[in-house]
Amino acid sequence: MAAPAVYGNWKMNLDHVEAIHLIQQLGVLLRRAPVEHVEVGVAPPFVDLRSVGSVIEADRLGLVLCAQHVNEHESGAHTGEVSLAMLERLGVHAVLVGHSERRRLYGMDDALVARTLARVAGAGLRAIVCVGEDLAVREAGQETAYVADQLRAALRGLSEAARANVTVAYEPLWAIGTGVVAEPAQVAAQNRSIRSTLAELGLEAPVLYGGSVSAENAAELAREGALDGFLVGGASLRAEAFHAVCRALDDWYASTR
Ligand code: 13P
Repeated sequence: MAAPAVYGNWKMNLDHVEAIHLIQQLGVLLRRAPVEHVEVGVAPPFVDLRSVGSVIEADRLGLVLCAQHVNEHESGAHTGEVSLAMLERLGVHAVLVGHSERRRLYGMDDALVARTLARVAGAGLRAIVCVGEDLAVREAGQETAYVADQLRAALRGLSEAARANVTVAYEPLWAIGTGVVAEPAQVAAQNRSIRSTLAELGLEAPVLYGGSVSAENAAELAREGALDGFLVGGASLRAEAFHAVCRALDDWYASTR
């Protein structure tokens, strides 16, 4: 199975000049205090990918370049969209698929998530499929069933070869950008359910958590939640904070060996 990982989702923040600055700062911190057991990736906006990828390559930072989204089609009349081949040419190795903001704000339904995921994972890139319930679903006590359904819709019918390229990111909507972190016990329960749904679908995939992750809560969440890593939003926009999350996970993995 893939290594534990921390990915920073920059969302629609930082122009390419600001992005270069952030990746250079992160590079300095990682050189000073490297991580050994954890894969670290960043998902900048499309227009920053070239600049960020160049710094990663030139400075040999060993970071995984990720995209936040991709179009399901190969090419053609899809104004405003970006294809997987374009991303691959820029050195992108992982793509977020079905982030809740894409689902909620841009009409990405389960079927589109499944088609996009099949394209990304089928091409050999890591597909980080995002799932998670909103507050109403949790208050109704339906959160594990809801996420299980999202996973079945996204992953059913995936080819054998593509299955090895899937990572699941559990991001409860009520914890995204709110400062409200899921309780470790809530994460652990959802994680158990996710792993059993994956087993039912014939997959064994890393499970990450996202939602107000910080250096302060990362180690406890990883330990209590039995996680394979994190998808970090806000804290990934500050080099020190993101580096600290990566280090916290790395320390935790070092201690389990
Ligand atoms: P925050 O870490 O800002 O809550 O964002 C989480 C997220 O949506 C990452 O994809």
